[in-house]
Formats: sequence, structure tokens, C-alpha cells
Amino acid sequence: MRPSKPTREPGNALTVIVAAWAALTIGWPLDAAAGDPLAGRRKAAACRTCHGLDGLSRQPDAPHIAGQVAVYLRDQLVKYRSGERAHPVMGVIAKQLSDADIDDLVAYYSNVKFEVEAPPKPAH
Ligand code: HEC
Repeated sequence: MRPSKPTREPGNALTVIVAAWAALTIGWPLDAAAGDPLAGRRKAAACRTCHGLDGLSRQPDAPHIAGQVAVYLRDQLVKYRSGERAHPVMGVIAKQLSDADIDDLVAYYSNVKFEVEAPPKPAH
């Protein structure tokens, strides 16, 4: 019997698509749609002193998180929770969050809408 040639088989394209989808889903399970923004709004009571209910910082050392990219928000919360991103305050807070809490908070804060206005352009 001849060894099979390394040719493209009919299923290959589909395999690649499925693998890419799996990689995205497993490595990057995020989409804001996974969470419930209304539940997130309630849970944001735990964040408001520093980040505001609207996601605009109320403390000089706390960043704005309003409308932040969902993938980024989730990534930071997961990293604070695991300790991969170390911060004394956010570490303690994130350790109390379940996966569902994170989904909901991400769905809420990433959906805050705001307008921005850049400072005036320099004259030249
Ligand atoms: C006591 C104040 C305080 C509270 C309450 C608090 N945070 Fe934070 N948060 C901070 C500070 C300070 C930082 C900046 C930490 C750092 O330098 O890594 C931060 C950083 C973050 C970041 C990273 C933002 C970025 O731009 O990288 C996210 C996301 C975040 N907080 C979400 C939350 C959520 C969600 C809650 C509520 C469950 C919450 N925080 C509650 C103070 C707070």
C-alpha cells in the first residue's frame, strides 16, 4: 500500500475553522453577551466608591472603566483574581468574584456609553 500523500483532504478547511473557533472560545471565552448587564449594575455597587456606578473614577488612583473593551476588562479581573496582576485592593476584591460575577460586571461596564472630546489641536 502506498503511503498516503499529504494532500488536502476535503475536511481540512472545516477542521481549521473548527480549531480556530475552539481556540478562540477556550482561550478567549469572553463576550460581553455572556453576562447580564442588569445583574452587573447591581453588582457594581461593590465598585462604585472607586470606579463610580458609571465607570468614571471617583478616586485619584482608580482608573476609568466605563465603556472599556470587554476582553480587556475581563482579562484584568481574572488576572487580579489569580494574582497574575498584583494589586492589594483589586486582588482582595476580585477574589470575591465568581465567573458569573465577572461576566455580569464586564457586560455592564463595557456597555456604558460616553462621548469623548480630544483637546484642541496645536496651532501647527
Ligand atoms: C477601594 C477602591 C476600589 C474598588 C472598591 C474597586 N476597585 Fe477596581 N481598581 C482600583 C484601583 C486603585 C485600580 C488600579 C489598580 C492597579 O494599579 O492595578 C483598579 C483597577 C481596576 C481594573 C483594571 C483597569 C485597567 O485599566 O487596567 C478593573 C477592571 C477594575 N478595577 C474593576 C473593578 C470592579 C469590577 C470592581 C467591583 C467589583 C472594582 N474594581 C472595585 C480600586 C478599586
